[in-house]
Amino acid sequence: MSTPIVFDTDPGHDDAFALLVAARAPELKLLAVTSVAGNQTLDKTTLNARRVMTMAGLRDVPVAAGMASPLLRALHTVPHIHGVSGLDGYDFGPPEVELAPEHAVDLMIRVVGESPEPVTLVPVGPLTNVAMALLRAPEIKDQVARIVLMGGAAELGNVTPAAEFNIYVDPEAAAIVFGAGIPITMVGLDATHKARVRPAERERIRNLGNPVGQMVAELMIWYGQFHRRKYGWDDPPVHDALAVAAVIRPDLIETRHVNVVVETAGTYTAGRTVCDLRGVTDRAPNADVAMEVNREAFVELFTEGLARY
Ligand code: BDR
Ligand code: CA
Repeated sequence: MSTPIVFDTDPGHDDAFALLVAARAPELKLLAVTSVAGNQTLDKTTLNARRVMTMAGLRDVPVAAGMASPLLRALHTVPHIHGVSGLDGYDFGPPEVELAPEHAVDLMIRVVGESPEPVTLVPVGPLTNVAMALLRAPEIKDQVARIVLMGGAAELGNVTPAAEFNIYVDPEAAAIVFGAGIPITMVGLDATHKARVRPAERERIRNLGNPVGQMVAELMIWYGQFHRRKYGWDDPPVHDALAVAAVIRPDLIETRHVNVVVETAGTYTAGRTVCDLRGVTDRAPNADVAMEVNREAFVELFTEGLARY
């Protein structure tokens, strides 16, 4: 039986990789793709979502545009990581996938409500759309099996020493999501910085013998430039793809079931996911925080996912 998912995204190179795997995974049923502002502005992330869905060859899965800015803050984009287009490094043709007429938040609420089985939400960008959906239609909580999100860090951040990008962009939305009482798997930097694809593995993907593999290799080279400059890594972390992999095969990650709250007020710490790994508070655990990953098995799943094209 396949797991129904809604993929919420701000593509983004690693978002694109994640979506390509999710679109063809027999273990998943992709109900909808919802875009959000994050890595780039909403117009760009939405266009990129349509471009990626065109490459994925899926015409019957709705793609809808969501929130253009965080709940309370100005949008912070990262063109130095994902480029001016949000998905630099590959020459996409015009998208053949139409934009759904519905707002992404309405689409999310509707598909979750209409699904005969509880739905897993897979947000891999700022949590603005998910928070809005929970505010607008709190009754959908009972129909959400789990939220498997890419975001946060128990240890070090990547935008500030304290905060990871997706949470940093919209901490208020993240606080709503972590406080919703829905089971959460937090696939944050503690695990995704270990989910890195080596150059030889990237070349294997290029040589899978399909256009998607070639595109992913090209995009990965472009996206890798930032990680080489910033961290000295030749093997970039494909963050968002690990969240999808963790839905397909939860055993790929090792998690800790702990309390997580999101800092919304700190001058230097806004967007921090405060993970009570030592159990020093009496706050109840509300998330499974990924701390380790079986890297080889993850790269295998990732490569097999792209070989389906
Ligand atoms: C997250 O930030 C974005 O740049 C990536 O797409 C990923 O979702 C990593 O911090
Ligand atoms: Ca992302």
